[in-house]
Amino acid sequence: MTHKNTEFVLALKLTATPIYCDLSTIWSIIGKLEREHLPLNFLPRMKHRKLKNSELGRPSPSEYQKKSKSNVIIVLDNVRSLNNVGSVFRTAEALMVNKIYLCGITATPPHKDIQKTALGATESVEWEYRKDTLELVQELKNSGVFVVSVEQAENAQMLDEFEVDTTLTYALVFGNEVKGVQQDVVSSSNTVIEIPQFGTKHSFNISVSVGVVLWDLFSKMKSS
Ligand SMILES: C[S@@+](CC[C@H](N)C(=O)[O-])C[C@H]1O[C@@H](n2cnc3c(N)ncnc32)[C@H](O)[C@@H]1O
Repeated sequence: MTHKNTEFVLALKLTATPIYCDLSTIWSIIGKLEREHLPLNFLPRMKHRKLKNSELGRPSPSEYQKKSKSNVIIVLDNVRSLNNVGSVFRTAEALMVNKIYLCGITATPPHKDIQKTALGATESVEWEYRKDTLELVQELKNSGVFVVSVEQAENAQMLDEFEVDTTLTYALVFGNEVKGVQQDVVSSSNTVIEIPQFGTKHSFNISVSVGVVLWDLFSKMKSS
């Protein structure tokens, strides 16, 4: 209930839970309470009320298909864990990734272990399986895509210093949980970006690194 930009909850001392209702209902309840000399309280509506899924304004899967996507492609180079693959789909869907290439041993949907973390995102994001990551990278480069290996490598650009060019289409290559992105794929990329880390662990989980890099690029593209 909104009145002059102020939201109220009518909290009756006699009830365990607040009653949410429109202004006219509130006035009629107040009248009744006054007539019967019953106590009542007005409380400000709770701060930062958590939203219900229905209030998030998400597009339906068919509306999502029609929306224009970002100029970012993801390439998964031999990712072993199906949960990681699903998680990448979920993040990619949220940030309007154009397409995901699943390469080498990377599993493909449909699979229950991908679905566990993708939560249906495999139905919205376009994907394709490729046996050979290096061949794909060459093909993408030939078609004008700027290929970025996301990896810890000599002379890598740190993510926070990486400047985006909104006229380019980017393919971001992420690697295997143990071996990382294959060296020949790293070597043939246009550039390499590394996410700075400050703790004792050598690397991020691959799906976490996808989230970090995608959000960084997404926000840089939005503001440039
Ligand atoms: C668990 S890491 C692989 C670590 C492996 N020891 C290696 O040699 O790369 C899986 C993938 O996540 C990404 N990744 C994780 N941490 C990263 C970081 N700090 N900078 C860039 N990429 C990272 C890379 O794509 C990497 O191939």
